[in-house]
Amino acid sequence: MDSLEEIKKNALNSIEKAADEEALKLLKIEYLGRSGNLTMILRGLKDMPEAERRVMGALANALRQELEGAFQNGEKNLGAIAKTAHFKQEKIDISLPGAKIPVGHLHPLTKIKKEVEEIFISLGFEVVEGPEMEREHYAFDALNMPKDHPAREMWDTLWLEPLKDRMLLRPQTSSVQIRYMEKHEPPFRIIAPGRVFRYEATDVSHDIQFHQVEGLVVGEDISVANLKHITLSFFRKLFGKDSQIRLRPSFFPFVEPGFEVDISCAQCQGRGCSVCKSSGWLEVMGAGMVHPNVFKAVGYNPKLWRGFAFGVGLDRLAMTKYKIPDIRFFSENDIRFLRQF
Ligand code: PHE
Repeated sequence: MDSLEEIKKNALNSIEKAADEEALKLLKIEYLGRSGNLTMILRGLKDMPEAERRVMGALANALRQELEGAFQNGEKNLGAIAKTAHFKQEKIDISLPGAKIPVGHLHPLTKIKKEVEEIFISLGFEVVEGPEMEREHYAFDALNMPKDHPAREMWDTLWLEPLKDRMLLRPQTSSVQIRYMEKHEPPFRIIAPGRVFRYEATDVSHDIQFHQVEGLVVGEDISVANLKHITLSFFRKLFGKDSQIRLRPSFFPFVEPGFEVDISCAQCQGRGCSVCKSSGWLEVMGAGMVHPNVFKAVGYNPKLWRGFAFGVGLDRLAMTKYKIPDIRFFSENDIRFLRQF
């Protein structure tokens, strides 16, 4: 049997040299395990003479404690080394591009709406809104179209049948004119952007829903000259300073006189192309001087006040500005289309 001195020397030596935690575990069994070297000595103590047993017992127990401490230290050190090795192996490549979070953006119609609003605000207008579900009174009667008036046919209306009080999806934003005038006194300048609905077959330039911006200016000496100036300023700010407009006589029951406002085709500068069907002009707006019957319907004195109104198709403006060939693209939600803006 090895002497205590030898056991100590060998054990400490081996603990120091142990390559990993596994090797250390085996060593611990070898020295301190049930049939380990030191354990055997401790077990043998009972057969020794009293005096010898005391001395040996004390020494052997001291060595046991010393070795237990040495194993503990060894385990700690090897554990720390193993951890560092793991970190050394794990590599972080900071030059790899990260996972991109897709960033959304505004819909082209929202973009053009904001642009149009900003232009009119710069011209002294206030932006107001009205409901998409509208009463017959605001959509037709107060706009100088009594029941059974044939002009109602100009707007292929979607009626909301089950509702008692005859209601409809507004076919034009002109109803907001009435709602605003009922609650305000002139003078004022407003625009009212919003969605409108029509009962019709769809094609590249027609959809059952589209967007308009209504304009209304009421004051004491408002004339067609003001109408021309405001609309020309607007189109020049939106499409560039070379834009031209022309007014053609037209009919809308709520204005007198009424006009179609055309803008010079931005695509061909008025020379004629496929966008403007070779005419050099694009029809984008209905307009006119507010009809006296409309003023009467809201309780204004038509002898005191004059005004002009216009309605411009937002979708058509966006189509012209961004060169979009089909109005239905706006509501199809095809990501390949939307990504282009
Ligand atoms: N509301 C008309 C339309 O939808 C346009 C318009 C507005 C015409 C205001 C005259 C005055 O066609």
